[in-house]
Amino acid sequence: GLPPRVRIHEVGARDGLQNEKTAVPTEVKAEFVHRLAAAGLTTIEATSFVHPKWVPQLADAEQLFPLLSDVPADLPVLVPNERGLDRALALGATRIAVFGSATETFAARNLNRTVAESLAMFEPVVARAKEAGAHVRGYLSMCFGDPWEGAVPVHQVVRVAKDLLDLGCDELSLGDTIGVATPGHVQALLGELNAAGVGTDRIGVHFHDTYGQALSNTLAALQHGVTTVDASAGGLGGCPYAKSATGNLATEDLVWMLDGLGIETGVDLAALTATSVWMAERLGRPSPSRTVRALSHK
Ligand code: HMG
Ligand code: MG
Repeated sequence: GLPPRVRIHEVGARDGLQNEKTAVPTEVKAEFVHRLAAAGLTTIEATSFVHPKWVPQLADAEQLFPLLSDVPADLPVLVPNERGLDRALALGATRIAVFGSATETFAARNLNRTVAESLAMFEPVVARAKEAGAHVRGYLSMCFGDPWEGAVPVHQVVRVAKDLLDLGCDELSLGDTIGVATPGHVQALLGELNAAGVGTDRIGVHFHDTYGQALSNTLAALQHGVTTVDASAGGLGGCPYAKSATGNLATEDLVWMLDGLGIETGVDLAALTATSVWMAERLGRPSPSRTVRALSHK
């Protein structure tokens, strides 16, 4: 069966924008987040407290976050290490996300660490965040395929997933960073995670749409009991440290499917589409989302 309700974890302002070459003005980002909340999104990933040289687009996190204090939504932020946690907590963040990798190559390229070293880096971050009362999400990248290592064995993903949860993460987001997953692979991974004691209630799915499989993969995950789905308004995005990663599943495409299935999201599709059209104008190119295009050309 399918769930009656899905929680959308909106990542457009972070995963969506982090790859943009030209700096998006901080005020535009702030308006984007406000508009996403006004469209009914309740979890909006706002920015990252990473090294500014690694992701220059999000170097304005200190300026942006205070502009969001009146946003009626949860605003998780990415934090790779204690330095990032200090920055986030100083601004009053109450939801953070660490981001690990199932493969060594991506751990090295994205975090300058081995998988084991990155888990060791996250350990005090998660512990201190929990002490501070923050909610902690653990992202796991390259859960299906890796551009340098190829297909990623399910058992390897399960091992790092368990390690992340053992650190104390409240939820786990399974990242198909480069968008190569297909529905059977999704169900196989969820099945192995369940068998290893990781229930779908703690799992979110994070699909990129490179091969046009993101919606099919999402449906497969919903059929498996998942109720948290990551998506990016307008299908913005990509990862600067993973060549061949395109944008995430577009939030509009997701909402169109869920509306059709009678699954509640609380999102106003017209308001969301208008937001993505507005953002596409700011970025100077059309949204890749099929739903945004269809609804805005009516
Ligand atoms: P490093 O070079 O190993 O850093 O980078 P370090 O620990 O050696 O520190 C070097 C210097 O950086 C020090 O300064 C630190 O203070 C400073 P110095 O003493 O030399 O003056 N520094 C910082 N400054 C500000 N904020 C910080 C910070 N940390 C250190 N947080 C590091 C290691 C983790 C910092 C770096 O690799 C990094 O920032 N990586 C982030 C990469 C990233 O953001 N990638 C995109 C997000 S992941 C993603 O998109 C995938 C996802 O969507 C899921 C999916 O699709 O799979 C989540
Ligand atoms: Mg991503």
